Amino acid sequence: MNEQTVVLIKPDGMEKHVVGEIITRFEKAGMKLAALKLVQLTQPILDTWYAHHKDKPFFPELSKQMMSTPVVAMVLEGDGVIQKVFDICGPTDPAEAAPGTIRHDFGVDKPHNVVHRSDSAEAAAKEIGLLFAASDLHS
Ligand code: PPS
Repeated sequence: MNEQTVVLIKPDGMEKHVVGEIITRFEKAGMKLAALKLVQLTQPILDTWYAHHKDKPFFPELSKQMMSTPVVAMVLEGDGVIQKVFDICGPTDPAEAAPGTIRHDFGVDKPHNVVHRSDSAEAAAKEIGLLFAASDLHS
């Protein structure tokens, strides 16, 4: 099934200068880049983006970190792209990620896990709506 998913290269990934390498991994896996831009996240965006984490003790730290530099935001498209992006990124905690995944290769710990990726088709639709106008998307 043709799907879309969102990947953010988080501030820790931006500071490591691995943007090109991360995009290359998705391209080499055959995914189509449907949108790409640099975005400065704001608290109102993050309140909605991470609404399911708003009551967690780490939410203030997560927000502060996500606003600390602009992030690269992209929409990837293709058959089964949500699962494929999950596999290329690895699980949330880099300590649990297999060698060759983005989070294993560039991540440090849960707060510094280099990339965000959509959890589901519903999350992807919400995230696309928060960051992209219809004219940004090139399917
Ligand atoms: S939970 O409670 O298990 O649902 O949370 P988890 O899946 O581990 O993490 C959810 C997202 O929060 C980020 N995170 C943190 N950021 C800053 N500080 C701390 N302590 C912290 N702990 C978790 C984590 O990177 C996940 O971000 P995303 O964007 O979803 O990868």
